[in-house]
Amino acid sequence: MSTLPFSSLETLIQALPKAELHIHIEGSFEPELMFVIAQRNGIKLPYPDVKAIEQAYHFSDLQSFLDIYYAGAQVLLKEPDFYDLTWAYLTRVAQDNVRHVELFFDPQTHTDRGVPLLDVIEGIYRALKQAEVELGITSRMILCFLRHLSVEQAMETLQKALPFKDKITAVGLDSSEKGNPPEQFKAVFDAARLAGFLTVAHAGEEGPPEYIWQALEQLKVSRIDHGVRCDEDPKLIRHLAQHNIPLTVCPLSNVKLRVFENLSQHNLKTLLEEGLCITLNSDDPAYFGGYMNQNFLETSKALDLSAEQIVQLAKNSFTASFLKEEEKRKHQREIDAIFQVWEEAQSSID
Ligand code: ADE
Ligand code: ZN
Repeated sequence: MSTLPFSSLETLIQALPKAELHIHIEGSFEPELMFVIAQRNGIKLPYPDVKAIEQAYHFSDLQSFLDIYYAGAQVLLKEPDFYDLTWAYLTRVAQDNVRHVELFFDPQTHTDRGVPLLDVIEGIYRALKQAEVELGITSRMILCFLRHLSVEQAMETLQKALPFKDKITAVGLDSSEKGNPPEQFKAVFDAARLAGFLTVAHAGEEGPPEYIWQALEQLKVSRIDHGVRCDEDPKLIRHLAQHNIPLTVCPLSNVKLRVFENLSQHNLKTLLEEGLCITLNSDDPAYFGGYMNQNFLETSKALDLSAEQIVQLAKNSFTASFLKEEEKRKHQREIDAIFQVWEEAQSSID
């Protein structure tokens, strides 16, 4: 029976078209590429080799990861560096049958070191446009404000980004969550929406459900990044379900950053069964040990997800995206067709 087109959940996951909605491009920086770019820019990394970098990737919480993640990003200086970083990610996820990506970038991590915003945006954008033609991957860019920095600095970043408005779909909020509540950034998000940007925010990764409420009510976000701590507030769960507010959940990230002790304790399946629009994503795949399909596969195994639930996650990824309705439907029809073949294959096994 192994010759059937879908003999395992792994082959089903591989076959499904997927959208990735929660990926920090700086978090896709693989150690090998980090060495290449560091050398080309004449920067000495504080590690002798790739293996030493990988050995440093043990995190106790979000902050312990962010310290290493920001250090890695320091070698990115010029437009080709941002192009190479983005192209490497896109060619990798093309193998996972990812058809659409909405990627985060952290301008302040670069502009605060003197890197022109133009080089950051042009490098990323050039790779995204090439991917549309050569890999059949569509995309959107999301500019994230670093919440450990000031509101004034976020506002300044927004102003600097306005000339690139045609390339950026939404603004987001990331970095150290605890002690940096979304409500602090209300004025920045008001200004961003007025300028025509959509909004998203990391909330409820390490922070309390109250931060999710603030992101919804004050920042008026279209979706919540992570949001897994919503399960501490039944009223919030009902609100998310009733208003179809998607969560971009990142299971391997959550385990690496000790939000959950292990994957089998993750609440993704429970949230799906509570009717929430849950999507599955990699967050920072170079640091957390897996791209899209690895997240799908390990989560499916650990939580014993059904084929229907896996298909639902793939469909949700398009529902929750910023694609036009007709583009969403095109991908979802393909998913339905694949699921039908899967079911036929299963009934011939039974
Ligand atoms: N920046 C990159 N990854 C992040 C995460 N998981 N949470 C907050 N900020 C981030
Ligand atoms: Zn994230």
